[in-house]
Parts: sequence; structure tokens; C-alpha cells
Amino acid sequence: MMEKIVIEGGHKLTGTVKISGAKNSTVALIPAIILADSPVSLHGVPNISDVDALSILLRELNCEVNKYEDMLVVDPSRLKNIPLVNDVVDKLRASYYLIGALLGKCKRVTMKMPGGCYLGPRPIDLHIKGFEALGAKVSYSDNGTYTVEADYLIGNKIYLDFSSVGATINILLAAVKAKGKTIIENSAKEPEIIDVVNLLTKMGAKIRGAGTDTITIEGVETLHGCNHEIIPDRIEAGTFLVIAATVGEKVTIQNVIPQHLEAVISKLKEIGVKMDVAAESIIVYGGFNNLKSTDIRTQVYPGVATDLQQPLTILLTQCQGVSQVVETIYPERFGHCYQLKLMGAKINQDESMCWVEGPTQLHGAQVYATDLRCGAALIAAALIANGVTEIGNVYHIDRGYENIDHKLISLGAVIRRINILEE
Ligand code: EPZ
Repeated sequence: MMEKIVIEGGHKLTGTVKISGAKNSTVALIPAIILADSPVSLHGVPNISDVDALSILLRELNCEVNKYEDMLVVDPSRLKNIPLVNDVVDKLRASYYLIGALLGKCKRVTMKMPGGCYLGPRPIDLHIKGFEALGAKVSYSDNGTYTVEADYLIGNKIYLDFSSVGATINILLAAVKAKGKTIIENSAKEPEIIDVVNLLTKMGAKIRGAGTDTITIEGVETLHGCNHEIIPDRIEAGTFLVIAATVGEKVTIQNVIPQHLEAVISKLKEIGVKMDVAAESIIVYGGFNNLKSTDIRTQVYPGVATDLQQPLTILLTQCQGVSQVVETIYPERFGHCYQLKLMGAKINQDESMCWVEGPTQLHGAQVYATDLRCGAALIAAALIANGVTEIGNVYHIDRGYENIDHKLISLGAVIRRINILEE
């Protein structure tokens, strides 16, 4: 269904919002389940279209997948390893985790290239180098699929040229059932890596060092079912921090792990946002008009997450002075800038940087989400703007934000969804 989100800006928000389970954990945890020989239950699963897409792919592999509210139960015991050439594969980036998981479990996988948001080039060479280091061979066919296979996988020492989240998780998935010891050096340290390692450990894997830059995996023969609660989504929480700081009066953001948000919280404090940070929640007292500009540089964890760069830009439009934003992870992740200019934002962008001049009174416009976090940023901008904003390409937003319109409506926002074909 083609939909757009229509937002009447300028309303003050107040109340409590509960953050959902982390999208970027969930999309790795679901493929990881196929390594087990018995059912795994995931709790706190967000209701987002990336989960639906992965459920379709797992069912295609003959796994039984059942969803009960926020619980997903997957029984992978009758897995059939067929080539994954379904159109769903290129709907999301995270389909690449099925390569590591199927290689680990069956020692062979054939599938199409993964899709996902366009953020500039997104190669998977580090994943492939990792699989090859474990003894796999990779071949490409003319029909756009590739096959990764091995007679058996043997543990090895793998140095990642960049601390890639995807490569770290994918190599972990392949290595948990390899023979012997695998050491991933310069591994990513994001909380989602720790979440995946916690699930694998409950399934019987032997892994040390998650959350550091060296992860050691002792291969095991079999893995079994378990229960696992997904960590809260730090990117959704950061998006609500931005929204509360701009149009909130008093907004309580529940189900957060503040340590996962330290870089963002310290940036918000520097800007002048008033917050009370508790053990599992953050109260934001927004609506101040004396916010100060700052400079932001995205970094791997624990730095400011690239996934929050676009939403943070909206806050900068409300700060006094010129802020500089440097994107070091995805240098082309600036699809939101053109859209925000249509809403009156003063932004200049060049190569991997943009400069935001504020404060600016944004105004409603017809805009399009060019990717998931651009969509979230446009929602945040529309809530501030004078007048009505119509946001197209809503499917990007639905890939990663559970019920975002309803969560905002419950805080007092005026939002509706329109089926474009019915207009
Ligand atoms: C994950 O992408 C997230 N996606 C992204 O979130 C997030 O922006 C990114 O990590 C960084 O935190 C999922 O978890 C599904 P990377 P991933 O490998 O794993 C380069 C969102 O909005 N690179 O850490 O693909 C790459 O091009 C999404 O929720 C290689 O060159 O990110 C990029 O410049 C978007 N070769 C950098 O490393 C490789 O083989 C970081 O990528 C792999 C990556």
C-alpha cells in the first residue's frame, strides 16, 4: 500500500513514550536463530516491516515462524537450505545475515545481493573476506546470485580493516559452529553485537570479548533453543530525544539504556537541552529557545551513531549559530538535506559534511523520505514546522520505527496516514 504521513506542526508534546526493541539487533537475531536445532523465542520484537521480511525468508527456508504480540517464536528444526532469490532479499540490508547463519549451519548458501537504504556504496567485502578466512569459497553467477560454500569451516584470526557492524556479526554467525578458535580483531563494539552474542551464548555458543575490539569464538558442534529479550532501540530513543527537545514540554522516554546513548546525551547537554537521566528512562524538558549550535562527528560506538545524524540535524536547525556535521561512516548519508531545504532549513552540504544555520522557523512542505533515518528526521522537522507537511515514501520509515505515528499521537501530535491511491 502506498501511503503518506500528514503532520500538522506546531503542537506541543507531553506524556510518556515506550521505546521498542532494537531494530538493528532484531534483524541479526532472527537470522541467528537458524543456527539452533530447536525453537528460540525472542521477546520485545518490534512490529516493523524488516521483521516481516525476515519472517518470509525464514518460512521460505522451512522454519516455522509465529508471532504473538511482541514475541516471535522460530522453530528452525526442519530447515531446508534452498537458494534465496525471492524479491524480499533485496528489500533489506539485513538479509546478508542469512549468509553467515546458513554458512555456519549448512556450510553452503546461495542468495541474491542484499538491499536496504541507499546511503552511498555499501560493499560487503569485509564479510566475504571473513568467510574466506574460515575456509569458504565464494562464486558469483550471471543471474545476480552468489554462492558461499565450504566442506567445513576452520577457525582463524580475522582482522577487520574497518570495525563493521555487519561484518562482525556475520563472521560470528559463521564461526560459532566452525572447528576450533576464531579471533575477530578490530571488531565492532556496538550494543547490538553484544545482544547477538548474548543470544548465541544462550544457544550454547562459546564467545568471549563482545563489546571489546577482540572477539574470540570457540566453535561448538550444536546449538539449541532458548528465550531472549531484545535490547531497547537506542536509535528510536535518540530520535524521540530530538523530538522531545524541540517540541516537547515534558516527555518521558521509557525503556532505554542510557549508557547506549551517552554520546548523544552529552551533545544534547552541550546544546542546552534539559534532561533527567534515570536508570531506564529519560525525562526531557523541551521547548527552550536558547539552544546553542554545536559540531557533530559520527563515529563507531561509543561515538555519535550515524543512524542519529539525520534526526540530530533537525535539532540543529533550532539552535543559535552555525553547526557543522561530519559523517564519517556513510559519507553520502545526506538525503535529508534537500528535503529540509524545502521546509525552509538553512543547510549547505558538501562531500561528507553539512552546515546548519539556526534558529529557523521551518514550514510545512511536500517531502519524501529518501531512506529510513531521513524519514524519521522529516517527521521531527514536520512536528516543529508551521503548517502541514506531507511525507512520502513512508515504507522507509515503517522498516524501522514501530507505530511511530501512534506513539506521537499519544503525546499530542496531530498526524494521519493517507493511502495515496484512495486520495
Ligand atoms: C549497520 O549497517 C546498520 N544496519 C546501519 O543501520 C548502521 O548505519 C551501520 O551498521 C553503522 O552503525 C543494520 O544493522 C542492518 P557497517 P552495516 O558494516 O552493518 C563500510 C539504519 O539506519 N563497509 O558497520 O551495513 C560501509 O560501506 C541502518 O538502521 C565496507 O566498506 O554497517 C560503511 O562505510 C542503515 N565493507 C562502513 O563500513 C564491508 O564489507 C560501516 O558499515 C562492510 C562495511
